[in-house]
Order: sequence, then structure tokens, then C-alpha cells
Amino acid sequence: MRTPFIAGNWKMYKTVAETVNFVKEFRALVKDIDGVDVVLAPPFTSVHAAVEAARNSNVAIAAQDMHWEAEGAFTGAISASMIREAGAEYVIIGHSERRTLFGETDATVNRKVGAALSAELVPIVCVGETLAEREANETFAVLDRQVQTGLEGLTPDQIAQIIVAYEPVWAIGTGRTATAGQAEEAHGHIRQQLQAGFSAEAAEACRLIYGGSVKPANTAELIAQPDVDGALVGGASLEIASFLEIVASTV
Ligand code: 13P
Repeated sequence: MRTPFIAGNWKMYKTVAETVNFVKEFRALVKDIDGVDVVLAPPFTSVHAAVEAARNSNVAIAAQDMHWEAEGAFTGAISASMIREAGAEYVIIGHSERRTLFGETDATVNRKVGAALSAELVPIVCVGETLAEREANETFAVLDRQVQTGLEGLTPDQIAQIIVAYEPVWAIGTGRTATAGQAEEAHGHIRQQLQAGFSAEAAEACRLIYGGSVKPANTAELIAQPDVDGALVGGASLEIASFLEIVASTV
């Protein structure tokens, strides 16, 4: 049985003070909610403060990106060990905004996933097709390429630990959520790929979460699908009330 996994990706929103206020209030509201992993991904500047504010709660912290090198002359970049030392347990890798706006490729995703695991960070690896790719019937081909190249070289044990987020680009920030059927179809396909490429046990253990206009009103139906193990939430994670409702609707 896979534990549901709900993560809020704050993107470039919230200052340190806003982060600390959110986490302090939110941790008290989720303290009695068991059986779901709850993660918040603030901007880099707020990661350490978020970790401190969430200490001894059932909220864990993620970073939103990382560099694959341990250190070096990479102005503006942050390494996996720096994120780990700041206290985060997870890192989002390969978000479609990183791919389209910052030149992320399946090859860089792969290097980052390896570096994250080496630093004992759990990667949340994002995949998903654009609207043009879906309309051209290329969804499965795109997912296959992103999964195969992005996760190349991982062991079945590592696959079992990581999170894969299916985020169709056309559903991100658009209000146009994938239907539960579309999400299940993609997740089922990804799980088959993991089974074929790694092992049945690894595919069974790996949590596959859905992202793209997740709201309190659609969460329960999405995560009721057999291969949808949770959600990666953008806009609706910025407000305590809506993110709390999403977390609560998983249990
Ligand atoms: P929205 O929930 O705002 O559509 O964003 C989804 C997302 O990109 C989460 O990583």
C-alpha cells in the first residue's frame, strides 16, 4: 500500500516571513492527519526557515530545483548537499517551467536525479506532455522518453524511493485539470514503463503523483484512481485553507 503524497510547489511566491507564518499555522492544522506525506517546496531563500518552522511536525520541506555538481563556479546555482544541509528532504527536478523557461533537458534531469539520491534527497521528478504533443497522440512517447532518459541508471531500489509527478503542461496554471481518466491512463502507462525498465516491485512501490490545476474540489476523485498516489499542487498550495482541504481529502 503506497502512502499518499501531497506536495505544494510554491514556485516564486512567498518571502521568508510569509513562509514561516504559513508553516507555523499549517503544521498545527495537520498535526492529527495521519497516513499522508505532506511536503512544502518554498523558494530557496525560505528553505532553511521552513525547515526550522516545521521541525517536529508532520510537514517536510522540498527545494524546487538543484544543480548536479557538488560545488563549483556555477553562479546562481545550489547543490544537493547544500539543500540537504539546509534540512530539506526532497527536491523537485525537471518541472516543466524549468524545462521550457530554463533549458532543462532529460539529460540534465538525469544528472540531477543521481546527484539528489547521492546526497540523500528524495527527487520528485516531473514529466508531462504539452497540448500539441497530446493532440498529436504523442503523450505516451513523450512520457517514455522522459522516464527512460530521466531515470536512466537508477537501481530498482532507487526507483522505489523516488516520486514521479505527471504534470501535463496544458493543465499547469490553466484551470484545466486532467480528467481522472486521463490522469489514470498516463500514470498506468508510467507504472508499466517502470515495471519494464526496472522491476515489478520497484514499479509497485514508486509513488506517482498528479499535478496541474489540482484543487480541493478535484483531489479526491484524482487520487481515488489506482495509480494516482497524490498531488503536486501549485496555486492551491499558496493558501492554507485550500491546501489543508486538499491534504484532508486524501485520508
Ligand atoms: P497549478 O496547480 O497552479 O496548476 O501548478 C501545478 C504545478 O506546476 C505544480 O508543480
